[in-house]
This record gives sequence, C-alpha cells and structure tokens, in this order.
Amino acid sequence: MKYLRLLTTIGTALIPVLFVAPATAQEVELDFEFFKNEVQPVFLAKRDGNIRCVQCHTRSSSFRIQPLEEHQLFFTEEQSRMNFESASQFVLPGDDPLKSRFLTHPLATEAGGDAFHGGGKHFGSIYDPEWRIMADWVAGATDRREPSSVEVRIIQTNAAGDDSHIIDPVTNKSIGRITDIEIPHGVVGAPDGSQFYITNESLHSLDIVDARTLRVKRRIALSGRPNNVSVTSDGSKVYVAIMQMPGSVDVIDVEKMENIKTIPVNGAIHNVYVTPDSKHAVAGSIQTSTINVIDTSTDELVWELEMDAGIRPMTFNAKADGSTDKIFVQLSGFHGFAVVDFDQRKEVARIEHPPARGQEAHYDGLQGAPAHGLGVSPDGKTVWSTSKVYSSVYIHSLPELEEIAQVYVGQHPEWITFTPDGKTAYIGAAGDHVTFAVDVESMKTVARIPVGQVPKRVAMVRMAVD
Ligand code: HEC
Repeated sequence: MKYLRLLTTIGTALIPVLFVAPATAQEVELDFEFFKNEVQPVFLAKRDGNIRCVQCHTRSSSFRIQPLEEHQLFFTEEQSRMNFESASQFVLPGDDPLKSRFLTHPLATEAGGDAFHGGGKHFGSIYDPEWRIMADWVAGATDRREPSSVEVRIIQTNAAGDDSHIIDPVTNKSIGRITDIEIPHGVVGAPDGSQFYITNESLHSLDIVDARTLRVKRRIALSGRPNNVSVTSDGSKVYVAIMQMPGSVDVIDVEKMENIKTIPVNGAIHNVYVTPDSKHAVAGSIQTSTINVIDTSTDELVWELEMDAGIRPMTFNAKADGSTDKIFVQLSGFHGFAVVDFDQRKEVARIEHPPARGQEAHYDGLQGAPAHGLGVSPDGKTVWSTSKVYSSVYIHSLPELEEIAQVYVGQHPEWITFTPDGKTAYIGAAGDHVTFAVDVESMKTVARIPVGQVPKRVAMVRMAVD
C-alpha cells in the first residue's frame, strides 16, 4: 500500500504529533474495502448523546471526512478514497490499537482513550462493537471477524416511532433497539444473521443494519416511498414494495449493496413477499386490488390477479415439494381473509371472522383494514389472522380451514411472526405499544413485551452476536 511504504520510509520524524510511540515498521496494510464498507458507517452513525463524526469532521480538524451532498446516502468511491487517506494519517497500523490517535481520541479516557477529544467520547469500552471494527481495520483486517454465535430474535418495528425493538424469544424481553430510522416500515433479516433490512419511509431508502453494532451500515436509495420488504432464502436479493403509482418493486443486490432493478407492476405496492421456495416475489396493491407475481430468476412480472378489494397482508403455505400451494390474503374492508390457489391463479375460498367471543367490537382507526396480519405456522398446520375489530387472532386449521381458536392479543393487533421451532407466535399490538407472545400449543398469551410507538410489522430474524 502506497501510504504504508511512505510512512515506513519517512518514519515518524516528519509527523511527530501523530504518534505517541515510534513507528516500528510493521507488516500491516490498511485495507481500503474494509474501511469503505465497515469503518465509514461509524462516521455516519448516530449514537445516543453524541454528534455524528461527519457533522464536525467535514469542517474542523485535520482529520477530514468528505461531506455528503443533500440526498446522498453514502460516500462515493472517490470520497471513500479521500476519507481513507485522511483517517490513515492518524493510524499506526498494527495490533496495538491504543497507539493510534484514530482509536484513542473517540474512546473514553477510563477505557484507555486519551485525555481529550474536541468531539467527545463515543465509545465507553474497547469491547464496543463499533470501536472494535475500527481497531480491526487498524490491525489490518480485510473481513469482519466471525460472530461468536447466531441466535433467533424477533424484531418489532414501531410504525409511529423512530426505533425498532429486538426481542429475545427465550426471555421474552426487549434486549436492544435499532435507532436512527425515522418511520421504519418493514423488516427482514439476512439468513446468515449478519444484517437486517429495514425500509425507511422518511428517506425513501432501504437501510442495512449491522446485526452486531445495531447501527445503520448503509442506506440504499429506492425509486420511491417504500412499504414492506422481503429477502430470498439464499440471502442474495432483497425485494422492496414501492408504495407509489404506477407501481413497482425494487430489487437490491445484497453483495453489491445496490438497487439493481425497478420492476414495473400493476399498482402502488403495499407488501411484497418472497414465496417459501424463493421462486416468486408476490406483491399486493391496495389501489388496484391486484396481486402481482414476479419470477425471481428473471425479475419480471409473470402473472397478475385482480381481487375485488385492496390487497393487504398475505402469507403462503407450501406443498410437499416446497412449491407454493395457497396465498392467504387479507383485503381492504373485509374482516377475514381470502384463499388463492397459486397454480390455478384464482380465489378458491373466503373466510369471514365472526364476532370474537367475549370481545366488544371497535371500529375506530381501522385504516381501511379490519383484519391486518396473517401468518402460517412453521409446521404448516394452522393459519393465523388478526382482527383489529375484536382485538383477537383467529386460528384456522390447514388444509381444512376450520376455526380452532380465538385468542385475545391486545388493541389493534397487527402482523404476526413465529419462532422457527413453531413454539411461539409474536403479534404487534399497535394500540397497546406491546408485542404479544402466544404459546402455539396451549394458544395462551405468555408475555406482553413493552416496545415503542404503534408496533405493527414484526419479523423473526437470525442475529449474529459479537
Ligand atoms: C463535535 C464535533 C466532533 C465530533 C462529533 C467528532 N470529532 Fe473528532 N475532533 C473534533 C475536534 C474539534 C478535533 C480537534 C481537537 C482534538 O484533537 O480534540 C477532533 C480531532 C479528532 C481526531 C484527531 C485529528 C487531529 O487533528 O489530530 C480524530 C482521529 C478524530 N477527531 C476522530 C473522530 C471520530 C472517529 C469521530 C466519531 C466517532 C469524531 N472524531 C467525532 C471534533 C469532533
């Protein structure tokens, strides 16, 4: 690396202020790609009680970060190069992180940081996952270190909040928050647990959240205002519903971290789902009442079906060979759900929910959708449908479609997800600001987990732990 050779030949004599210890020439190269993709997000991230590094370092100090233009969501290649050169000046490459001003300046004094940084202390310990990313870069890392484990988590986005809650399904407690996304809409996780994808309705971006730092790592510009989001089972592509006429679905290439295609479909899209076999992405429009089916191998619209009302949440079950059997779909103004046969491409049944036993009806704030949350249990034996009118979830057997239970799940219950072992269902109770955990076998509520404002979309994810 050019910089390193320069440093080792000139030595520290010409730049004495930068290093506390003499630079013994170590065979460590600073990796540009690692800096670009892993370190730069630290400069953009908002930490509670701190100002973002970019706010100050685009203006003051000799550590210079290139400013982002208005609406620019990440540094260009050229800006990244300049940032790399600038940050490198404050680094002594090697595995003693406390020899680099880049690392000691933002680190708390009592944790080994230096006495003063005009920008304050951003990291309370050398175990802080963001600080460790910076230290790994200084030590010459070219890849993130392996996580210590990957665990199942539930993420509840708060539709009226600026945060999303992470729930541990073992303790049924909220164990962390994803912040700095105003109007988070949908969420899904990368199958390997490395990151989460949250649609950001305020910036019109898909925000990639690092599972170990819980910070936004990259924001990818979308073709319009997003709603829900889905990911293929191999983790390679993310599909984003664009809630704007005439209607489209954006495709994000995860490896490239780029928006690679905007697929034209029929109507503004509320929800998009990759089917269980990952062969199709199914997108529903409230405005045109159309279900749009995209072939994920070509990313083209292959068929569409018009229903008699707007398309709300959908869910799917699979045949024994894994291919899609039925689409269960909730509709605007309808208290129940319809069943569409995927091969026949037509509606084959409709289930209307009766009044729930012992529950009063509520009609306030239904937002056009009396039933707005659907899920098929992982064993494929039941389909769950929430009712905002009766504060309940209705459980039907599959394939018979017979109602087998009603469970109270709070005011304005919304979306549903299950743990992979099928033991627990999680439902966002938008009116109670809690997530309900329901034991699937006994069909009883086992926890009410306090979350943020108006919790709606909820998803099971895998999460890498540092
Ligand atoms: C509130 C404004 C502000 C923020 C936020 C801020 N800094 Fe600074 N930083 C300064 C100022 C002012 C200096 C120069 C004075 C000093 O050395 O403390 C400085 C100096 C530095 C230096 C040493 C550069 C030199 O000239 O010697 C480094 C490295 C640095 N900051 C890194 C960071 C990193 C990394 C972050 C984010 C994690 C950050 N700063 C956030 C204001 C800020």
